[in-house]
Amino acid sequence: MPEDDKKNLSPEEQVTAAREAFEQEFERFSRFRGGVDKTGATLKEAETLQRELNDLRARQTGKKSALASVKKLIGRVAPEARASFGQRVQQLESEISGLIDEVEVALREFTLAAKVERERIDVTLPGRRPRRGHLHPITLLRQQIEDVFVALGYAVEDDREIETEFYNFDALNIAESHPVRHPADTFYTTNGIAVKPQTSTVQIHAMQRRGVPLKVIAPGRVFRRDTPDATHNPMFFQVEGLCVDRAITMAHLKGTLEEFVRRLFGPKTRTRFRPSYFPFTEPSAEVDYSCFKCGGAGCNICKGSGWIELGGSGMVHPNVLATVSVDAEEFTGFAFGLGIDRMCALMYGLDDIRLLFENDVRFLEQFD
Ligand code: FA5
Repeated sequence: MPEDDKKNLSPEEQVTAAREAFEQEFERFSRFRGGVDKTGATLKEAETLQRELNDLRARQTGKKSALASVKKLIGRVAPEARASFGQRVQQLESEISGLIDEVEVALREFTLAAKVERERIDVTLPGRRPRRGHLHPITLLRQQIEDVFVALGYAVEDDREIETEFYNFDALNIAESHPVRHPADTFYTTNGIAVKPQTSTVQIHAMQRRGVPLKVIAPGRVFRRDTPDATHNPMFFQVEGLCVDRAITMAHLKGTLEEFVRRLFGPKTRTRFRPSYFPFTEPSAEVDYSCFKCGGAGCNICKGSGWIELGGSGMVHPNVLATVSVDAEEFTGFAFGLGIDRMCALMYGLDDIRLLFENDVRFLEQFD
């Protein structure tokens, strides 16, 4: 009601006007007096209503409210009418705050219960399992290889990836002019320091650390400046083997690798040794094993030959033994170095070893 109109009203009429104004504004809230549950209101609506009800309380009972104006009139009415007028105003005030309180409590109870319901945890529901990771196929194969050699009495050596020229080349009897020393073949970090191009470097560390006799394998990552293709990566895994003792012969080498392929690929697997050359072994041999898929008849895995390349091997060169002060008259030994990536690709039927290091989770997940 405009201020000018109010001035024309008697105090009694102003109380009535204040009551009517309140009732009009409060009307939309009155349906919540008996509780909010049955009104169909949502939590979000109830929260909005709570805020609106607060505003209404400020408007209807605050300093500038119609109620405050009529309270000020109490002192101005004639003394004989003052008591009953005061009572009417007080009654209006307690009715207004009583009704607002009532709805406020209903809304508060409802929102609290709705929030509790929303956040309720049903402990009987089946839990969400955290996704389990799994090992990389190369790691799985490496562990299988380790298991076979550990069962044959070998210790497992773990070693550094960055080496000096001594361990990378000199101690392995690799000539100054050998191409593997050239930066076109090997990755150098600084002068004379390079990431190892083969696990054979571990032979030297192992003999220095453990002395002889010894039987060790050393799985590890190696690096070469090879252009990536279906069978080459610039980083790949090898497993080195070294056995040094009195009276070790080539027959021990052959027997060991034959036993290894039988345990890994099945009891009918055979080996084949082809003459080869490595500076750190003499004599040296490339080792093949009969194809695990066709058994030697020829198939797509072995490209029709019946044989699959396993790696290089040979009898430890006397110069290598001399470098670590082992008497080559008393001790002899054999060594081998097998490529894990190509073996892994064949075993899992992959046509490209680069898949192993593209880190495509959709591919790797298949090996769980
Ligand atoms: C060697 O590395 C010798 N150190 C092996 C050795 C050890 C001989 C002990 C004698 C005594 P080779 O360069 O052939 O040999 O490599 C061995 C195996 O590593 C290969 O048969 C092949 O399986 C794997 N290999 C070589 N280059 C790559 C490459 N770029 N990517 C993936 N695998 C490779």
